[in-house]
Amino acid sequence: MLVQDRAAKPKSQIRDLPTQQQIRRFSEPKNLDFTSWVSENVSRIVVFFLFIVTAASFLFLYNTTDTASLLCFQSQSTQSLQPLARPQIKWSSIQVLPDKTSPYASFLTERWIVVSVTKYPTEELKGLVKIRGWQVLAVGNSATPKDWSLKGAIFLSLDAQAELGYRVLDHLPYDSFVRKSVGYLFAIQHGAKKIYDADDRGEVIGGDLGKHFDVELVGEDAKQEPVLQYSHENPNRTVVNPYIHFGQRSVWPRGLPLENVGEINHEEYYTEVFGGKQFIQQGVSNGLPDVDSVFYFTRKTTLEAFDIRFDEHAPKVALPQGVMVPVNSFNTLYHSPAFWGLMLPVSVSSMASDVLRGYWGQRLLWELGGYVAVYPPTAHRFDRIEAYPFAEEKDLHVNLCYG
Ligand SMILES: *[C@@H]1O[C@H](CO)[C@@H](O)[C@H](O)[C@H]1NC(C)=O
Repeated sequence: MLVQDRAAKPKSQIRDLPTQQQIRRFSEPKNLDFTSWVSENVSRIVVFFLFIVTAASFLFLYNTTDTASLLCFQSQSTQSLQPLARPQIKWSSIQVLPDKTSPYASFLTERWIVVSVTKYPTEELKGLVKIRGWQVLAVGNSATPKDWSLKGAIFLSLDAQAELGYRVLDHLPYDSFVRKSVGYLFAIQHGAKKIYDADDRGEVIGGDLGKHFDVELVGEDAKQEPVLQYSHENPNRTVVNPYIHFGQRSVWPRGLPLENVGEINHEEYYTEVFGGKQFIQQGVSNGLPDVDSVFYFTRKTTLEAFDIRFDEHAPKVALPQGVMVPVNSFNTLYHSPAFWGLMLPVSVSSMASDVLRGYWGQRLLWELGGYVAVYPPTAHRFDRIEAYPFAEEKDLHVNLCYG
């Protein structure tokens, strides 16, 4: 029922091992002929043989097929893998990279809102700057006007980004929102403990990020309450559409595999999990929620803008280990234990980048005992009826395989 249950299982297997060895230590001396050796070691021989076959098929797949099918193969075989030993990292020996060049060199604050900007400041962005206690960081790209500025926001132009010396700069496309990766690093360098990953078309409802999100997970201000959690009774259910929980059964988020779009039943029951480790918090957006181009074009019957409302009284809901939701970069709060999961992949189309980031981030979060939770509407995004190119999502629908 709790997240901890599943994590505990491998430990009990490890504990069993010494007992078997003790039994063997006191058993009768062994006959050394080959047939009895084989019969005593059947299980080891089988395991060794399977290992060789697995390794060989991996090599074969790696050499003959594209990465997509390799990914599928890996995702199906993960369940039989033993946990890997983790590297020991001496955090204290890692040198801090100081900001010596930017005008904000000595500026430190804990709460950051990171947005990508391509056009002059929107009304919504002007609203984000007014949220008390949060610093807006606007990350430009090659299409952003050179004289972009907004009082209260820190703006990183392409030139300012280049000055920062981050190694990720060598890998980022110039004309894309994935340059936000520079922004996350800048925020971390300047004291971030929480990063609200936002969209300049989104208005925070009520101007208060703390209304629904759990901005504090520890300490006096943290809500010490159990969180509702999806059940994981059906092991075949690996991804859910969270919009159903928030009252919109016929809407699905960008990044939900299309084969799951038809699963529109309400939950029969929920479980609960201790609050405090929801290091990635996905907010739902009213107005134009984060939907894919398939939804956008098949549901648009008139030229009117979408104005979808979710149930703001539905409680937040957590995902158990083994079940995922699509996570985006428009309305998502990351806590520092999950900051490693912010980096946006650059080798996929732009509208697939944040969704992919969200899926691998969730999987790795389980290793920390963390989880994703989805929150009732925290933002309102306005449908400006702009082009919604399917091509930018192609890596979601065509090249991705959900295991
Ligand atoms: C899960 O999928 C397998 C294979 O398709 C099927 O045999 C099994 O009954 C499914 N389990 C549930 C609980 O639906």
